[in-house]
Amino acid sequence: MAVIGTDIDAAAELLKAGKLVAIPTETVYGLAGNALNDHAILDIFKVKKRPKFDPLIAHTDSLEKVQSYVTHIPDKAMKLADAFWPGPLTILLNKKDHIPDLLTSGLPNVAVRMPKHELTQELLQRLDFPLAAPSANPFGYVSPTTAQHVEDQLGTKIPYILDGGQCSIGIESTIIGFDENEKPIIYRLGGKKIDDIENIVGRVKLKIIHSSDPMAPGMLKTHYAPSKRLIIGHLDMLIKRFQNRNFGVISYHQKFDDLPSDKQIALSPGKDLNEAARNLFGALRLMDQKNIDMIITERFPDEGLGQAINDRLKRAASR
Ligand code: TXA
Ligand code: MG
Repeated sequence: MAVIGTDIDAAAELLKAGKLVAIPTETVYGLAGNALNDHAILDIFKVKKRPKFDPLIAHTDSLEKVQSYVTHIPDKAMKLADAFWPGPLTILLNKKDHIPDLLTSGLPNVAVRMPKHELTQELLQRLDFPLAAPSANPFGYVSPTTAQHVEDQLGTKIPYILDGGQCSIGIESTIIGFDENEKPIIYRLGGKKIDDIENIVGRVKLKIIHSSDPMAPGMLKTHYAPSKRLIIGHLDMLIKRFQNRNFGVISYHQKFDDLPSDKQIALSPGKDLNEAARNLFGALRLMDQKNIDMIITERFPDEGLGQAINDRLKRAASR
């Protein structure tokens, strides 16, 4: 079992010694290690059972530090950083030579992000290295949004979980990169809305990959998946169709009087997509633990964080 607590000094000492610590961010919990230390990086891949062709994000707390990791920050990237860091946006930038190839899976770019969470920001300030931190879940499973989620799956494999409460956004960061003409490309939908990004840099291209692609495994078709079968559709129709089956329901806001209350979760009874995003992964985990055979859910409004929610549901449903 990992120790769960809020001791930043203890977390810093472990990280300085090359050990792994789970850290809270505004998106999801990360499995953190020294991003400049090959042993720590290898340990992250091992604990997550993650293939080494899937690169990790480097987390840091200041633009000066970012500048020491990358060769160049395009104008539009700088504008995005000014507008949204710290926050749920990851930017792909050309790495300097001292950034380990293991971190980037041999790619020329390093993914950089400044998380917006007080505990983790304080932690980063005490470190003279960035933190490599993929989501703190076994590869392919639903990301954790509480310290307990991390403990449930990785508790025996890491010494410490820094407990920062429930993640306020609840869905991973949006990932943006730039082509050779410095045109922005979104590679992963996430906690920063496309509209907000386009307000800063104009129209962006979406390159959201829904099939197997070793360049962007976070975009693998099956990902973020509970172990139970997940079906997306029109809820009233699905409930009728599966009436003789033992299922649970995850809805946007609706409650179903004819179904047992412990087998349904409305992510946001007040129809707030931000609240729905915050509750999504916890609901998938809860349903996964229940005595049911399958989970049914619906498409969310395709706006704001609804786009990222739909993306995660689609991947979770794909087998
Ligand atoms: O919100 C988040 O981004 C969370 C928290 C902990 O910060 N982290 C997270 O990391 O979601 P992870 O490893 O689960 O997903 C990051 C994805 C990878 O799967 C990979 O596809 C992409 O980011 N990525 C990382 N480095 C990259 C690179 N150099 N080029 C292209 N894609 C990269
Ligand atoms: Mg992940």
